[in-house]
Amino acid sequence: MTACTTPRRAGPPDPRSLQDRLLTVADNALKTLVGGLHPARPMPQPAPALREAAAAGLSPEQRELAGRLMRVDHVGEICAQALYQGQALVARDPALHAHFTQAARDECDHLAWCRTRLRELDSRPSLLDPLWYAGALGLGALAGSFGESWSLGFVVETENQVEQHLASHLQRLPQADTSSRAVVEQMKTDEMQHALAAEKLGAQPLPAPVRWAMRAAARVMTTTAHWI
Ligand SMILES: [Fe+2]
Ligand SMILES: [Fe+2]
Repeated sequence: MTACTTPRRAGPPDPRSLQDRLLTVADNALKTLVGGLHPARPMPQPAPALREAAAAGLSPEQRELAGRLMRVDHVGEICAQALYQGQALVARDPALHAHFTQAARDECDHLAWCRTRLRELDSRPSLLDPLWYAGALGLGALAGSFGESWSLGFVVETENQVEQHLASHLQRLPQADTSSRAVVEQMKTDEMQHALAAEKLGAQPLPAPVRWAMRAAARVMTTTAHWI
């Protein structure tokens, strides 16, 4: 996640046209939704001592639960892609734009790992993925339109909420599903780093009502994605 710790420098306005930016967003949306983004890092694996449990396999009930939880996490990563793209779309400072674009690339690893794990569990992505992407893209652009420090504050709050959400999934995932647990644990560590990086770049803490609204919207998304 080296790009997230890159210091931000003020620079000249981004010379790329709105059309160029929209094309980048459209390209990312397509690749995100059809699984065309490839991870830069290998998928996390269970510690050697836990691989025996993974090899022993899961009961049908455990497999179904793990599949549903990983589908929710996959939706979270779809939204992460869209949020960062939405913020990059309206970021005027080229360094900030580069930060958001690189952050979206970092989240590619998570997206690809979740998609792989869904396949391994014989589960599937959410049928509403295009809807989640569109909603998060608009939300990211809206957050970005309030200026840099608020946009970064939105990143901090989002990443903190995702980290808490992943912690709750680690409590619910079957202990025997050491493969899913290894992926979720690494994602949780990465999300914490994303929040810290945005804080260092000058994030402004969001007002409590905004944080509550974000939490409520996330609950709608996670509850729906668990089933659909
Ligand atoms: Fe992520
Ligand atoms: Fe993140």
